[in-house]
Amino acid sequence: MALCGVTSRRASEEIILKGRVMVNGETVDYMGCEVDPDYDTVEVDGIVIKPEAKKYYILLNKPKGYVTTVSDEFDRPTVMELVKDVHARIYPVGRLDYDTAGLLIMTNDGDFANVLTHPSHAVNKGYIAKLNNLPDNDALKRLREGVELDGRLTSPAKVEVLNPSKHGCEIKITIHEGRNRQVRRMFEAVGAEVTSLKRISVGNVTLGNLPEGKWRHLNDAERQRLMGRGKKNHSRSKTRYCPTVVGYYIKQFII
Ligand code: URA
Repeated sequence: MALCGVTSRRASEEIILKGRVMVNGETVDYMGCEVDPDYDTVEVDGIVIKPEAKKYYILLNKPKGYVTTVSDEFDRPTVMELVKDVHARIYPVGRLDYDTAGLLIMTNDGDFANVLTHPSHAVNKGYIAKLNNLPDNDALKRLREGVELDGRLTSPAKVEVLNPSKHGCEIKITIHEGRNRQVRRMFEAVGAEVTSLKRISVGNVTLGNLPEGKWRHLNDAERQRLMGRGKKNHSRSKTRYCPTVVGYYIKQFII
C-alpha cells in the first residue's frame, strides 16, 4: 500500500487490521498476505490501488540508420532495439531523423517528455553538422537571424564554425525549435549541404563520450536541470520529481 502511495507502512498496517482492505474481493485483516500486482486486485475502502510505475530517464547515443519510433511500418531498425535491456515501456522524447546520430532522451514519464518537447519551454538542442563547403558570412548571418522554412522564419540560432578547411567545415548549431528536419533544411536554405548530423546536447545535458548505440541513465542533477527549463510554465513539476516513487518492478510485495 505504501508503494501505491496510499499512506505510510505503519498507517497501512492499521488500515489492514481495521478490515478496510480487500484482495480479489476478500477482506484481508492480517499481516503478510502476498499479492502480485499483475494478477491480484487490491482495494482500500472499495477503491482499487496500483503501484506507481518506476520512472525511467534514459540517454541513448543513437547511431545513424535507426528510426526514432516505437515501431516502423517499413520494418527499419528502431531505437527500441537499442534499449531492450531497459525493462520498462519507455519511448523517445522528440525525434532524430533516420540519418541523424546522437543524443536521444527516452522515458516513461509523460510530464517530463512534455516539458522537453513543448514549444513554450524552448529547450536548446545542440548539433554538429558536417558540411562539404564553407558557408560565407551572409549565410552564417541568415542562419543566426532566421531563415524561412514553410513560410515562417526560424528562431535565432547560435552558430559556430569549427575546423574550416578547403574541403568543408563542421558547424555547431544550437536551436530550440523542433521543426521537421529543421537543421538540414536551414542549411539547405542557405545553399549548404549537410553530409552528417549529430545531436550533442539537449538543454544542459551533453552526450559526452557515451559510445554509439549505448545508453545510460540521466542522473538526478541532469533530470532536474532539464525539468527546471520548464518550471516557469509548469508549476506542478516541482512536486512531481521528488524521489519517492519506487516499485513497479518489485513484483511481489506485502501489503
Ligand atoms: N534537425 C534535422 O534536420 N534532423 C534531425 O534529426 C534533428 C534536427
